[in-house]
Amino acid sequence: MYDKFSRRRLLQTLAAGGTMIAASPVLGRMAWPIQGAERGSLRIIFYTDVHAKPGGGVPTALKIVADRINARQPDLVLGGGDLVEGDFHSSALDVAPNWDAYMAMHRAIKSEHHVAIGNRDLMGVLPKDGSAPVADPRLIFKRRLGLTTTYQAFDALGYHVMLLDSVHISGDKYKYHGHIAQEQQEWIKAELSRIPHGKPIVLVLHLPLLTAHFGAVRGMTFQAEPNRVVDNNTDVLALFAAHNLVLVLQGHLHVSELLRWGSTTFITGGAVCGRWWRGSYFGTPEGFNGITLRADRVEWEYFDYGWHASGPVRDRRSPP
Ligand SMILES: [Fe+2]
Repeated sequence: MYDKFSRRRLLQTLAAGGTMIAASPVLGRMAWPIQGAERGSLRIIFYTDVHAKPGGGVPTALKIVADRINARQPDLVLGGGDLVEGDFHSSALDVAPNWDAYMAMHRAIKSEHHVAIGNRDLMGVLPKDGSAPVADPRLIFKRRLGLTTTYQAFDALGYHVMLLDSVHISGDKYKYHGHIAQEQQEWIKAELSRIPHGKPIVLVLHLPLLTAHFGAVRGMTFQAEPNRVVDNNTDVLALFAAHNLVLVLQGHLHVSELLRWGSTTFITGGAVCGRWWRGSYFGTPEGFNGITLRADRVEWEYFDYGWHASGPVRDRRSPP
C-alpha cells in the first residue's frame, strides 16, 4: 500500500491555467447513497476498453478522449483494461504500434492515473507459428506502464483504491476465464487487514464481478460463459463482506450499466471504442464515465465524447 496521491497536483494543474471545459453530451446521470470518506470528495474519470490501434482514425479519437478527460480536471483517472487491440495469438511485434497509440493517450492525461489489465493486454499465449508461449504474457503491459505487478492499491483522498488482475489463462476452449487467483485473494486479505475498518474502498477490474447484461439480452436463465465474467465472484465479494466496498468499476462488456447490490455500486463502464470502433453497442456509444464519490453518495455520468465511426458499421457483434 502506498499513498502518492495529493491534491497538490490538481492545484498545480489549475494554477497552470487548466484547460478549456468542452461540452460533452451526458447520456446518464444518477446518484446513490453510500458510506463514503468523511472528508471531501473524490472526482474520478473511469474509462475502459480502449482497443487502441494506429489505423481508422483511432489516434485522433484517443486525443479527443485525453483532451475531454483533462478538461474535467479529475482528481483521479482509472482505466479498466483492454487498453490495446490484441489477443493471445499476438506477438510483441504485432502489438507494438497498438501500444504506441495507447501510450500517447495515457501520457496525455494529466491527472493521477492508474489502469487495470484486460484480456486484450496479454500477448504470446498461443503464438500463431505454433512456437512455445512467451514466458510472461503480461510483460509488455507491465513494461509499458512501468509496473512490477498487475494488481496494486493506493490511497486517494480518504478512499482506498484497489486494481485487480481478473484474467486467468485457462488452457481450455475459452482460452481465459475471468478469475481472481488464490495468490491475489491472499493479497486482497492482507491489504484489507492493513486499512482502517470502514474506510471506503473502490475496486477496479476488467471482467465483471456482477452484471445484469446477460439476463437482459439472453434471458434470465442464461449462464454467462467463464470468459465473460469473473467465475469466482462470490469468493471475491465475500472477502469484502465485512468492509466498506462502495464502488466496483468493471469493463469487458462494452455496455454502460449500473447495479446496486447491498451497499455497493457496480458500474460497467461502456467502452472508449464502443462497438470495437464501429459505432455504439447495445445502445452504449463510445464514451467514458465521470464518478464523484462524496461522504453520503456516489454520483455517476456517462459521457459520449462525440466520435463517429467512419467505416461501415457491422451488424454482427464482435468478441470481447
Ligand atoms: Fe474489450
